[in-house]
Amino acid sequence: MDISQIKSQFPIFRQPTPKGNDFVYLDNAATSQKPQCVIDAITRYYSEEYSTVGRGAYWPASINTARVNEVRSKVKTFLNAASEREIVFTSGTTDGINKVARNFLAPRLTAGDHIIISEAEHHANLIPWQQLCLEKGAELKVIPVLESGVLDESWLASHLNDKVKLLAVSACSNVLGIKNDLNSMISLAHEKGIPVLVDAAQTLCHDRVDVMSLNCDFLLFSAHKMFGPTGVGVLYGKAQCLEQMKPFNYGGGIVKEVTMQGSSFQDLPAKHEAGTANISGILGMGAALDFILSLDEKETAAHLSDLTSYALDRLESIEGLKIMGGKDHKAPLISFTLDGIHPHDISTFLSEEGICVRAGHHCAQPLMHRFQIPASIRASFAVYNDRKDIDRLYEALLKTQSFFL
Ligand SMILES: Cc1ncc(COP(=O)(O)O)c(C=O)c1O
Repeated sequence: MDISQIKSQFPIFRQPTPKGNDFVYLDNAATSQKPQCVIDAITRYYSEEYSTVGRGAYWPASINTARVNEVRSKVKTFLNAASEREIVFTSGTTDGINKVARNFLAPRLTAGDHIIISEAEHHANLIPWQQLCLEKGAELKVIPVLESGVLDESWLASHLNDKVKLLAVSACSNVLGIKNDLNSMISLAHEKGIPVLVDAAQTLCHDRVDVMSLNCDFLLFSAHKMFGPTGVGVLYGKAQCLEQMKPFNYGGGIVKEVTMQGSSFQDLPAKHEAGTANISGILGMGAALDFILSLDEKETAAHLSDLTSYALDRLESIEGLKIMGGKDHKAPLISFTLDGIHPHDISTFLSEEGICVRAGHHCAQPLMHRFQIPASIRASFAVYNDRKDIDRLYEALLKTQSFFL
């Protein structure tokens, strides 16, 4: 795989850092950089063919309406959904989870019911359920994370019962980088007739997901973590689930007939997409999918796996560096601490070296409590990273240690 050719498609890497050194971007789990094709799709929309969609009979509106429909179709194929009706555009993963919480689960949740999540969830897949439980007098049950970072599946098996109204888990932890065994968890939940929501925010940038074979009921992702723009994402839902839900928002674009007394609503997916869409975002997301599909899936996986193993080996050789969780089922994402130096100091020091990593609790405070640390450093890789980036990180961490200790 020609990484330098891939990297050359990302104009940001041609910019020097403020200190004049090469830019090493290792915060891909937060958000990834954008290839030229994504930037071009957005620029073309605003500079050459700007219009609304779904509402005008004039040519740019028809072109853009067709393009937005095409993106929906691409997402459908990408996820292997049964139909375009199951693909709803949202502003991102957080938005999608909140929509399922408010419109799917809230009407069927009563006092004493349970919602199961895991201890490793991002706040986006925790707080909507927690607040719903508080409102309804329901209970949030939490799958413990083992020392290895793997979810305790035996706990799950013993807590799935009639009271559980939803299992909501991430496909991959944004802190530990450990991929969960979704097939097994979904089968366990479905045996008891419990619907399952999958937070795939950390997955689709490096792994493909087939929603039909996975058989999840909902799946969410954000385009900005997979080379696309911010503020746009997808809520996949099985048609029968989306049909049962009232429109997420009320307003224009979702109606058949409106009188002062009442309104009738369109079929899926329009029913759930009131208001003017994030058209530039959707077009950018379409270009991002094209970019991902232009890469050889197996080569990408092999490259990311090589980078992750290489990074684990190099990082582990640093005295006082502790990696969170085990090495199995690992996404290209490593969280660690360095004895005696606060993660924020490390990340500030690395920034001076032109290296971007994330420091903090990664919007997963309960997981930090579980591992009894306030914060960690997270280095996460995308297809444009190479071994030289890891070497730069390694050298800079040694320099950080000699500066602080
Ligand atoms: C696992 C996980 N879920 C949800 C989110 C929220 O994504 P967004 O902010 O794009 O809605 C993130 C973002 O970091 C994440 O890593």
